[in-house]
Amino acid sequence: MKINFFRVFIFFFFFLDFSSIAFSNETGIHPQKAAQYIHAVIEANRTIYSEYIVERMEKTVGLKSTENWKEENALPLPAQFLALSSKIINKKNLGLNYRLLSQWPINPQNKPVSEIESTGLTRVSETPNKPYFEIISQKGSQFFKAIFPDKAVTKACVHCHNNHPNSSKKDFKLGDVMGAISLSIPIGKSSGADDNINIPPEVVSDYIHSVIEADRTVYSEKIVNRLQKINIAFASENWWEEDALLLPAQFLLNASDLIIDRMRNGLDFKLISLWPINRRNGAATKFEREGLEYIDIHPLRPYIGINQAAEKKYFQAIYPDFAVTDACVQCHNNHPQSPKKDFKLGNAIGGVLITIPLEN
Ligand code: HEC
Ligand code: HEC
Repeated sequence: MKINFFRVFIFFFFFLDFSSIAFSNETGIHPQKAAQYIHAVIEANRTIYSEYIVERMEKTVGLKSTENWKEENALPLPAQFLALSSKIINKKNLGLNYRLLSQWPINPQNKPVSEIESTGLTRVSETPNKPYFEIISQKGSQFFKAIFPDKAVTKACVHCHNNHPNSSKKDFKLGDVMGAISLSIPIGKSSGADDNINIPPEVVSDYIHSVIEADRTVYSEKIVNRLQKINIAFASENWWEEDALLLPAQFLLNASDLIIDRMRNGLDFKLISLWPINRRNGAATKFEREGLEYIDIHPLRPYIGINQAAEKKYFQAIYPDFAVTDACVQCHNNHPQSPKKDFKLGNAIGGVLITIPLEN
């Protein structure tokens, strides 16, 4: 119930009237901002996974999350969830990379492997409220590196790490920096004098989209599909009442509410459709309607534009959301609230809308 109220409130709060303005190419996003946006998306998904899946499923149906989740038919730990999606991103060779690391790692793969990672870990331990940023050159290319502190936000973090046989530190306390999320974004060739390191907004949006997709893939494949196949847990639209797993769309939608709430008037992402099961997910603006129509015809690239709302400029992109499995088609076509009953495999059921604020 609590969650429904929350979502209704956010919906009205952010029902801004976007109007389209001419697209200009001079606007770029500073890599520090880009890193903060990407980090916010990673954190929002991790929070939804930790609170709505790991903690809730343990409390309601006794489903545990364990390090050996595969063998034990359990849920992966949040750190493992993040590692799984970062592996998907790294494999895509987008340039973007991220991972969880620590100077006292349980898993030796998570120890710092470069000077910048060691320096960053030391710095965020000293000033836990400030991420550490640095531009480095590697083989003629420049990279923006960001290290965000990862704190012991609950007693469970402290308890599990202090008691883990492979942890070299046994005295973590609540609030301590336990490690960091390290993020790397390419910013171009190092040519010396060129100080324009801004990243085109469409590139930042592609990064954000790829993180959302990677997390949704991990959630669908490693959590929902796997646990359903072995009869351990099931996803349901009424997950809240039924002590069930969230549908993948609901996972994304809840993370999106969280990010809107955390980044007031800033970054935002939504799942929308011309044929929504939930009317709240319908096209809210002309841009959204046109974009959804466009990706239905030209699904190869996202529909993009710069729009204005309340005196502020935003970059917006709509990526097609394809019916990649028969389950998407079956569930949407047969849902009583679905206005469209003839989706086919491969059709775009809707789109992922990403909104990124621009500095004017
Ligand atoms: C039930 C045990 C458990 C809990 C609870 C837990 N962790 Fe971990 N954590 C692990 C394990 C196991 C790993 C190693 C995962 C892997 O194989 O990469 C890990 C990895 C990490 C890492 C990467 C460095 C390392 O130790 O390998 C960080 C940072 C981290 N956890 C922080 C946290 C924070 C912050 C919380 C609370 C929000 C938390 N952990 C909760 C068990 C736990
Ligand atoms: C078991 C049923 C089920 C399956 C499977 C399913 N969906 Fe949905 N989907 C829903 C429901 C229910 C909503 C509405 C969620 C809400 O907002 O509360 C939804 C929402 C959406 C939306 C937002 C627009 C709308 O209809 O409200 C999109 C886009 C979407 N799903 C795409 C997909 C895709 C792509 C897949 C497969 C990868 C998929 N869905 C699989 C039930 C399902």
